[in-house]
Parts: sequence; structure tokens; C-alpha cells
Amino acid sequence: MEIQVVQGDITTIQTEALCLGIFRGVRAPGGAAGAVDRALGGALSALLQEGDFEGEKGETLVLRTDQKMPAKRVLLIGLGEREKFSLEGVREASATAAHAASRFRELTTIVHGAGIGSLPTDAAAQAVVEGTLLGSYRFRKYRQGDEDSKALERLQIVESDREKLSAIKAGAERGQLIGESVCLARDLANEPGASLPPRELAERAGMLARESKLECRVLTEEELAAEGMSGILGVARGSEEPPCLIVLEHLPQKKTQAPIVLIGKGVTFDSGGISIKPREGMEAMKYDMAGAAAVLGTMRAAAALGLPLHVIGLVPAVENLPSGRALKPGDILRYANGKTVEVTNTDAEGRLILADALIYAQHFHPRAVIDLATLTGACMVALGKEAAGLFGNNRDLLEKLKEAAQMTGERVWELPLYEEYKKLIQSEVADIGNSVLAKGSTPQAGAAAGAIFLQEFVSYPWAHLDIAGTAQNVDTRAYCPAKGATGYGVRLLTQLLLHDARQELASKS
Ligand code: BES
Ligand code: MN
Ligand code: ZN
Repeated sequence: MEIQVVQGDITTIQTEALCLGIFRGVRAPGGAAGAVDRALGGALSALLQEGDFEGEKGETLVLRTDQKMPAKRVLLIGLGEREKFSLEGVREASATAAHAASRFRELTTIVHGAGIGSLPTDAAAQAVVEGTLLGSYRFRKYRQGDEDSKALERLQIVESDREKLSAIKAGAERGQLIGESVCLARDLANEPGASLPPRELAERAGMLARESKLECRVLTEEELAAEGMSGILGVARGSEEPPCLIVLEHLPQKKTQAPIVLIGKGVTFDSGGISIKPREGMEAMKYDMAGAAAVLGTMRAAAALGLPLHVIGLVPAVENLPSGRALKPGDILRYANGKTVEVTNTDAEGRLILADALIYAQHFHPRAVIDLATLTGACMVALGKEAAGLFGNNRDLLEKLKEAAQMTGERVWELPLYEEYKKLIQSEVADIGNSVLAKGSTPQAGAAAGAIFLQEFVSYPWAHLDIAGTAQNVDTRAYCPAKGATGYGVRLLTQLLLHDARQELASKS
């Protein structure tokens, strides 16, 4: 999408549709809406006074200007209550506008919230662009005739105040880079299992590295064996597709602190293996690499934003299928750190491959490690689609993630890692088991059991995000597709990195 920021008076701008946000209960519009109302001879205030438009969140109305203004139409978007308005409201309003204006192909907007909403100008502009890009996203690749389906092609942001222009431009550019990176993550996660096996995911990572000036290395099956990565190799055994470990690296121009390592679960399809899943809904297991997609998207954003940080992305990529060679319940894996794991359930494969990546991360002497994984159905039971489960061993890192969640609307909810949960991964024959459930007993703390397993392989500040619920089919946000991948994690992690980079810069000056 083409995005432009221009200085000018909205009543003199030529456009297919001019988007204005209206708070709930407003009867006499001020600011930009007030200027448009005067140009239209009071048509807006008449509408508002007679209750034709309430300003409810998600409400839209198209008004023709009948040549009273160069803009052909005015598109009203309800912003809801002014007291509750936030950057999330800006993203939602902009996504709603993008839906409503898709048939016009081109849209002009003001920065919602920067005036009366009193949000920071650059952050509000960023949110406008993010909301527009994410709200216009469609996965069209496999739909006949959808190549020329209606979609917004151009967004123009107008601001009358010259003083605000540079902040809006900076925010809009950030919004575009980040929004496009989320769309990359969505594209990857939406791809069916057959067209994105581990080697193709690695191929895409290589393409991304070339385009974004990232370093990329892919460890092959032989190299995985040499590293002793028995989790990845074990899970991959049932599949015809060879596994790999993708390593992406963003190096700042000047060498800075120790790296931050991001790890994404890359199970390109999860059938459950020999502990096979029921048939209903199994197609959704193509999203089991959403963590990997989020890491690739974040690496793209880190490079595009030129962050002065050393960031490494690790993606263990594998397909989980049953076959005559597949991993069997009862099998025991020995990891590079000597730890042995009894595989009691081949469907708890995510933790098996993440363990290898967590051990491997140690090579980089990381400052912090964050993993993202569609790890447990239990996390979705606990939190639904509204937040990712957050676990970790470092208060500072956890609080920084919560702060980034607040800024981005990509919610996290901290869950405990009590010592007592260790009994959920006890084994009689190995050091630990991957999923221990006594016969006939009801499952307990499934998300925490996954996290406490991962903690066994960690020796640095670490956080784990269980994104099983948030990664796909979120119908409660205008900028998320009700069906398909959300790209959850890219904005959250990029915000964390941006914040960290600002501190880095601040500590130097
Ligand atoms: N990929 C699944 C988790 C999942 C389930 C993600 C539903 C998104 C939606 C994971 O590999 C899995 O199968 N987990 C098991 C763990 C259990 C065997 C301990 C689960 O949640 O049932
Ligand atoms: Mn599984
Ligand atoms: Zn899985």
C-alpha cells in the first residue's frame, strides 16, 4: 500500500473518501470534523443531533459531499467513549475505515486521537497506518479471481499543523514497516502445511534475509545430528520432510550489548504424530508455526527499523506426522545438555523441539531469550483469544513484555511457574517426561506444564509466550482477520525491541 503524509486543509483535499473519527455522544463536532461540517453547511452536526450517527465503536456512515468539498465522500467512523480511547482504538478505527473504504481503493484520513484524544502524535500516526494495513489484509493467494478483488491501494494522511508533520511522518513510516512485517507473518502462517514444509520455511527465511540484510544460516539434518538436537530429529522422524534449524541474525552497525534471542516454534503441520489428534479442526494445525512466523516478522522489522541492537531469531522447523518410522510414546530422547526425556505423548512435540533451540541459544550468551509457541490447547482454554500466556524467570523481562503489551494491544497474561508443577513432568524412566497424565485423571495446569518443561533447558533471563489462542481466528478486533493468522507477536516483540533500543541510545548519550 502506498502511504503519504501531506500538510493541508482537509476541506480542500481531493479524494474518494475522507475519513473522520467521531466520539460517542458528540453533537457539535470540533477540529477537523467541525471544519468539514461548516463546508457541508451543517450536514454533519444535523446528522449527529438527530441520532443518525451515535459514534459507537465500529459504527460507520458514508456521506456524499455533493461538490461542496473536493473530497467526494466523508466516511464517519465511531470511536466510542472518549475516556476509554487509546492507541488500540486508533488501530481499530483505522481498520474499520479500511474495510468501509476498500471499494474506493483510496482513502484520506486524519490522525485519530492526536487532537482531542490527546495521544502522542507519532504513536497515533503509527497506529493509523498499522490499523489500515492490518485491516486491509487478506490471504488471497489461493482464491480464483481474487487477484483484482477490492482492496485499499493508497492511504493519505492529512495534517493542517506544520509542527506535527515530522512526528506524523516518523510514526507513519514506523507503522508501515511494522504493519508489513505483521502481514509477512500472517502470510507465512496462513500457508498450508504442504506448501510450507520446513525446507520451504527456510527458503522464505533466506529470501527475507536477502531482502532485509539479515544474516541467515540453516542447520541441516546432519548438522542437527552433530549438535545433538534429538528433539527436532525425533519429532521429524515420522515425516518425509527433513527438519532444520533456521538462524537469522540482525547485527547493528556498532557492536553493542549481548544479543536478544527470539525463538519461534516452527511445526509446519502438527497431526499429533502417533498420539494422533482427532480429525475435527486438524486443518488448523497448519498454524502450528505461528511462533516461527512471528519471529521472522520481528526480524524483518528489526532490520527495517535499523535497530541498534543485536537480535537473533531461532526457528526449529519440523513436521509432526505418524509413520512406521515415527517417534513412539515411551521413547526416550537424550539432549545435548545430557538431560533425558521420556516422550509420553508425541503430540506434546513443541516443547521437544524448543528444548533443542533453548540449549542452542546458550551459544550466543544472550542477554534475554523469548520464545513464542502455539504450545498448548490448555492456554486457549485458560485465556481464550484475548491474551497470550506469559511465563518466565526474570521479573524485569516479564514487566517489559507487559509494558509492550499495553502499548500494542497484543495482550499477555502472566501465569505462575510454581515448583510444584514439576510433578506434571515427572518420569519413572528418564529425567523428565514431556506430558505426564495419570490414567483417568483430569488434566491440570496444561500451559504451565509446557512452560515448566521448557524451563528445564534454560540458563539465562527467559520468557515464554504461549500463543495457541492468539495466533489465529480472532474475531474481537477489527484489525485481526476472524478467520486466519493474526501475526500475533510481531508488534509486541518489535515494541519491546524499540523500547530497549531507546534505552540503549539514552544510556549512551
Ligand atoms: N500445537 C498444539 C497446541 C495447540 C492446540 C495449538 C490447539 C493451537 C490450538 C500442541 O502441539 C499440542 O498438541 N499440545 C497438546 C499438549 C498435550 C499433549 C500435553 C495439547 O494442547 O493438547
Ligand atoms: Mn502437538
Ligand atoms: Zn503443536
